[in-house]
Amino acid sequence: MITVNGTPHQITNPEMKLSTWLREVLSLTGTKIGCDIGVCGSCTVLVDDLPLRACKLLLKNLEGKSALTIEGLALPDGSLHPIQQAFIDCGAIQCGFCTPGMVLSAYALLIKNPSPSRIQIRQAIKGNLCRCTGYQQIVDAVMAAAQRMRATNQDQ
Ligand code: FES
Ligand code: FES
Repeated sequence: MITVNGTPHQITNPEMKLSTWLREVLSLTGTKIGCDIGVCGSCTVLVDDLPLRACKLLLKNLEGKSALTIEGLALPDGSLHPIQQAFIDCGAIQCGFCTPGMVLSAYALLIKNPSPSRIQIRQAIKGNLCRCTGYQQIVDAVMAAAQRMRATNQDQ
């Protein structure tokens, strides 16, 4: 059994990569596959609150674990999470291919450290490669999201 965005699923494809299973079986295509060899970070999802590369994880090793994908980050009323909204507001997106993984890495940081420095943000997202925007706006977005989340005492 693996729980994805709060919904439990039986593991029936134990040799399948988590990234492939999310996209092709659960149709959760927010998880992107870039390099597929663990380099780019675009497939990042949270597993038990840790940002991990889904293209490096086999389902058989995830028994009893919980995964959060970008589709599970929206608020209960369906509105965007403050990190997602901050990426839009700060212009931290161009093609958007890196964005789901970037947002989830940022989320993993902010649930542990609500007031990160810019250096701590850069360290948290260093495994997520962006080919489009430059990192300035991305760091700005995570700073803005942290401020908004602190203001509302909101982690989800
Ligand atoms: S697709 Fe997984 S790290 Fe690049
Ligand atoms: S926005 Fe295109 S790779 Fe980051």
